[in-house]
Amino acid sequence: MAIKKLGVVGAGTMGRGIVQVAAEAGYETVVYDLSRDILDRALSEIHRRLLRLEEKGKLKQGDAVKALGRIHPTSDWADFKNCDFVVEAVAEELGAKQGVFRNLEAAVSASAVLASNTSSISIDAIASACKNPDRVVGMHYFNPVPVMKLIEIIKGRATSDLALETARTLARSLRKTIVEAKDAPGFIVNRILRPYFIEPLRLIEQGLADIESVDAALRSMGYPMGPFQLADFIGLDVNLAITKVVYDALGKPERLKPSAVQETLVKEGCLGRKNGRGYYLYDGQQVIGPNPRLSDVCPSPSGRSSREETAWRVLKAQIAEAEILINDGIATAEHIDLAMRLGTNSPRGPFEWKAELHAKA
Ligand code: CAA
Repeated sequence: MAIKKLGVVGAGTMGRGIVQVAAEAGYETVVYDLSRDILDRALSEIHRRLLRLEEKGKLKQGDAVKALGRIHPTSDWADFKNCDFVVEAVAEELGAKQGVFRNLEAAVSASAVLASNTSSISIDAIASACKNPDRVVGMHYFNPVPVMKLIEIIKGRATSDLALETARTLARSLRKTIVEAKDAPGFIVNRILRPYFIEPLRLIEQGLADIESVDAALRSMGYPMGPFQLADFIGLDVNLAITKVVYDALGKPERLKPSAVQETLVKEGCLGRKNGRGYYLYDGQQVIGPNPRLSDVCPSPSGRSSREETAWRVLKAQIAEAEILINDGIATAEHIDLAMRLGTNSPRGPFEWKAELHAKA
């Protein structure tokens, strides 16, 4: 099905990124959020990023303004009327997402495809709110959307071939690489990312390392961001919500249990880079240093885990999680490695790390 007009629900971090890449690719794009203020802030950030791309020669002169002209902000569901494809990018809560899908279904035509950018929630559960669940598909983007090459596409039990193929066509037109994932908790990338966050939290809770040494250890292996930096970038609240969805949906396995440290920081309003306080404190985009609250909630690090031990403890936990996905028939090793490389800009996927570990032994 050809897409003429696209819709995006939610003008937060992910919604903005999706709107930007869609408008750049030439789609007329309706973007919905509750307040004019959120929409204005989203538009001005997209404008700034598009102008930057022009400055760098990645867009032709004048294309930024043209792309901006394709974006239509709204707080009225009725404006989705002529959209052929709508991507939902609201908070990671099943109830909120189901509410959006109900509103969308009442507004769009019978043939429109509805996609969720959920990071971890079951597509079947979201689709159950729709009269026509066959039009619902998962389309999971990665942050920052204009930079990250991957889109996970998820077929729910009811998803029609047409909805699936339309999502694939859209992803290709945005010049993204597709990895198709089963409708399993956290799909591929967010499932295998869980140990990337949880294992470092265990290390600091056990007093074996501090956040800076863990981040340095993973960066030394070629990761663009260490686990605590990445958590601050994603948002501690967003990341905790994903962890809880995955943990609950898998029957609360001890290995994926959310960390008390993370829960405490979120409760106290430490949400990451977006509000200047996460595992680190920030002045704008500049890191000031580790959040001093960590020294209240964690024992003083005795520094017993070496850089290499720290990095391999985290990577081995990811390898183990990836092996569970294989055993459960959720994905192939090839797809897992590709998804982790393109979804997180990591130098290797878990099975490539496993091969390196064997070669070292
Ligand atoms: N939006 C758009 N573009 C951005 C951006 C943003 N928020 N942040 C950075 N960029 C662009 C810059 O413009 C720059 O482009 P050029 O190379 O063309 O100049 C490029 O990205 C590199 O930026 P920087 O030099 O400023 O910074 P960097 O080299 O440190 O890279 C990064 C930044 C791409 C974010 C890199 O640190 C990275 O890859 N980090 C890991 C990100 C990751 O893992 N994302 C997935 C998170 S999980 C997720 O999203 C799923 C979920 O459900 C929560």
